[in-house]
Amino acid sequence: MVRVLFVCLGNICRSPTAEGVFRSVVERAGLLEHIEIDSAGTHAYHVNAPPDARSQAAALRRGIDLSCLRGRRATRADIEQFEYILAMDRENLSNLQAICPPGLEHKLGLFLEYAPERPEREVPDPYYGGEHGFERVLDMIEEASHGLLAHLRQRHGL
Ligand code: 4NP
Repeated sequence: MVRVLFVCLGNICRSPTAEGVFRSVVERAGLLEHIEIDSAGTHAYHVNAPPDARSQAAALRRGIDLSCLRGRRATRADIEQFEYILAMDRENLSNLQAICPPGLEHKLGLFLEYAPERPEREVPDPYYGGEHGFERVLDMIEEASHGLLAHLRQRHGL
């Protein structure tokens, strides 16, 4: 079993979207029993909250239902238990580095490292912007999800 945790600030926009999109990509590949997928936020503003209504609507337009997900905060134990802890931007990567147990820093990275064709390295926070921001977040996340699955297949022989 390979464990992947997606991390953003609030765990209501970007990381639950990444969790839902990546789960659907993994499901279509028939690999759900080999890859565990979760998401968390580095702040506690939205603990127990469902994903933002705009994220849910944008994901649903692409056939992905995020309604069952609930916000939670990333912990040191997450860094011990997951193999891939992928932050949406550098601010959240640095928040994770601040709580990372010594010797586990290699597990932390930026999700968009798996979308090397894209010019961006960060998934921008859509929270205070318009509808278009949520579509852009989905485009980026879809691309990185395919790259991540290809990496996991190769690296872990899936
Ligand atoms: P997320 O977006 O990190 O993609 O879930 C945000 C959600 C809420 C806030 C900031 C970003 N907030 O400030 O409440």
